[in-house]
Amino acid sequence: MGRKGPTTGHWRFGCLGVSSFADTPLLVQIAGDRKVLGLRRTSQKCGMTEKFPYTLETPKKEENDLIKKEFTGHLSGAVRVQPTGYFFQDIYRDCADPIYSFSVKKTDVFVASYPKCGTTWTQEMVWLLMHDFDYEGAKVELDSRFPFLEADHVLDPGVFKMPGICEKLTFPPPQPGQYLAAAANASSPRTIKTHMPFSLLPPSLLDTCKVVYVARDPRDVVVSYYHHHRMWTSHGYRGDFKNFFDFFVNEQVMWSPFWSHLREAWERRQHPNLLFVTYEQLKADLSSTIKKVASFLGKQVTSDQLEKLSSHLHIDSMKNNQAVNGSNNAAIGLLDLKEGGFIRKGKSGGWRDYFDAEMTERFAKWTKEKGCGLEKEFKWI
Ligand code: A3P
Repeated sequence: MGRKGPTTGHWRFGCLGVSSFADTPLLVQIAGDRKVLGLRRTSQKCGMTEKFPYTLETPKKEENDLIKKEFTGHLSGAVRVQPTGYFFQDIYRDCADPIYSFSVKKTDVFVASYPKCGTTWTQEMVWLLMHDFDYEGAKVELDSRFPFLEADHVLDPGVFKMPGICEKLTFPPPQPGQYLAAAANASSPRTIKTHMPFSLLPPSLLDTCKVVYVARDPRDVVVSYYHHHRMWTSHGYRGDFKNFFDFFVNEQVMWSPFWSHLREAWERRQHPNLLFVTYEQLKADLSSTIKKVASFLGKQVTSDQLEKLSSHLHIDSMKNNQAVNGSNNAAIGLLDLKEGGFIRKGKSGGWRDYFDAEMTERFAKWTKEKGCGLEKEFKWI
């Protein structure tokens, strides 16, 4: 059994061989035609220079027009990283190399995930563990305490000029590169959020600092992601769930393909600097998961501290906590709380209220095809 393997029975070992994180596809092809010129970086480990090694490909006009029409906040259209297929807004072109070249510090702690897997929940836990349960300090908005590495290509600056937002802004619209600079300049120990898959993050990341990766049943992810896309003006999705489901299984939503993202983390799970947890574990036994994360971070937790943190991280408390519930973004028109709020249902298995028989069958087929066996490691399916 894996040395850091979970004990709660949420997945099984043995179906897949433990492949080394060094086996993941790395240098593939240097793009001849991509717009990102990128900076050369010096590897922190061996002094060699490394460059963003993937191609950035614009989807065909028909597909790109559809994305711009359905996702009204994706003003620049879409881009695909090849050969992995990771899907982003076109503005990612300017961020790909700076993110890949981001200088990681030994004291950093990253929380990484595919979106809607319980990132915010885990961030709040990690921040409090890293800051000696400073509940006063935790009243500051999470986004400021825990910078979002790639926010520059998630929040198109053009969105801040949209009616309904520009007149409510209480700060100047963001400048390109501003959020990455905020992450770089955060005080140590830096706590950094990312949804980028490992292949698009600095290659030295795991050998340098700790990373907590959170995963979740993709059926609950697609539902949560649907509301997320309707809630954020920066995504601006106005369609129904059925259409969004198509975009998700066709891997035309940001940070997809889901299974590749998950696989990249799963393959690295034996690395001593990676802790792999699931939303389902957090739900099933929050206290044990807190203890596991604390031990990974090298922190002691007394039973009183554990009790207080568990209560702070309870969904009802998170829903009413202005530092994490998105209400500040709602105040400037970036987030529509009518969609259920950023901290929404917080359930496992809620997908059953959304999937019809055809979707259930399609999702199972997609899982088998794209999971390539990885799905068998999890108790979800
Ligand atoms: P739902 O939309 O299914 O409710 P992320 O932070 O990665 O965007 O994940 C958001 C999901 O985590 C949302 O799922 C949200 O409600 C859920 N979540 C956030 N805090 C939670 C908590 N304290 N308990 C349970 N679920 C929580």
